[in-house]
Amino acid sequence: MKYATLAVHGGLKDESHQAVTYPLYLSSTFIQPDSEHFQAYGYSRSANPTSASVEKLVADLEGAKHAFATSSGMAANALVFELLEEGDRVLISSDVYGGTWLFTTQLFAKRGIEFEVVDDFNTYDFSKAPANTRLAFIESPTNPLLTVMDIRRVAAAAKARGILTVVDNTFLTSYLQKPLDLGADIVVYSATKYYAGHSDLLAGFVVLNDDTLYERLRIYSKALGGILDPLDSFLVSRGIRTLPLRMDQHNRNAERVAEFLSSHPGAEKVFYPGRRDHPGRDIQAKQASGSGGVLSFRFNESEYDLDRFVKSLRIFAFAVSLGGVESLICRPATMTHESYSPELQQKLGITRNLLRVAVGIEDPEDLIKDLEDAFAAAKR
Ligand SMILES: Cc1ncc(COP(=O)(O)O)c(C=O)c1O
Repeated sequence: MKYATLAVHGGLKDESHQAVTYPLYLSSTFIQPDSEHFQAYGYSRSANPTSASVEKLVADLEGAKHAFATSSGMAANALVFELLEEGDRVLISSDVYGGTWLFTTQLFAKRGIEFEVVDDFNTYDFSKAPANTRLAFIESPTNPLLTVMDIRRVAAAAKARGILTVVDNTFLTSYLQKPLDLGADIVVYSATKYYAGHSDLLAGFVVLNDDTLYERLRIYSKALGGILDPLDSFLVSRGIRTLPLRMDQHNRNAERVAEFLSSHPGAEKVFYPGRRDHPGRDIQAKQASGSGGVLSFRFNESEYDLDRFVKSLRIFAFAVSLGGVESLICRPATMTHESYSPELQQKLGITRNLLRVAVGIEDPEDLIKDLEDAFAAAKR
């Protein structure tokens, strides 16, 4: 089956009543046949049929063997980080989601795990990585500066040193990019974003092929308990049915908005991998089939008032997050990436005039008019 067909028909099938939609099993526990024999489901922290259905759907869409559905994207990251032991070392991209950075700076040190911040994985020399290096964590494109990492290069160089590559593929989903096919070992998602797609729940996934890692993560997941509950599993499955349609529209709209901003004096610089002037454009074209719905730009504060701009928006909401049907704008320096120190923000370019735009699936003409009107209202 092709991706869009699988998105609609994938997951488990209801064998009892032939329901077209897989049922929502709101049960914490399951009756066992006798004291010696146990059926597939025992207790919903270990496995639940509705959650198993969305896990199968996400794994199949990725072309992978295994998926775990977790209670949020951060729960997915936290589960993967359980693979690390005291004394291990992690390579982490300097440009990652603020929550991932928070985990790195707050929890790795507490657990005796070393981390090295890598500014540019595309040129990082893996042969110099110390012997205790176990895991490389990247996003591509990165959040919020949309830098493109050459996943194939990173994964191959890491593998040669026995280092696991973990890719946060939240911005693109498996519809636009499949990191496992590019050589990565584990893919993580905030399914709060495009998979669920409607800004009405939190969810995450860990996706992988390796059976040994899967078995370890299965035990850790059961012990930690950060699983996705059945109702949200049902809603994520429902969201995924329309993922290809929505992603196509997000992608088209983001291209239009990026084009508009690039020619508007209110935007000093636009970051979107689909644009001709983006330095990662060629790698992006090789490893993904689109650039997704997120872009960022530097707001021209000398000529426009940023606060008036965001307050004048009528369709775009000034809010964190992305991947829902509605368009959002946020300021990473004070919102999604406030866990970075001001010095690090400055070094990386997460400046106070950087705005991140999550382009929704509305009519692009309305979105552009909304931005145009807000710039006009914000002119100094
Ligand atoms: C790239 C990325 N990864 C992970 C997360 C964390 O996901 P969640 O908010 O579902 O825990 C986010 C949230 O914004 C994100 O943008």
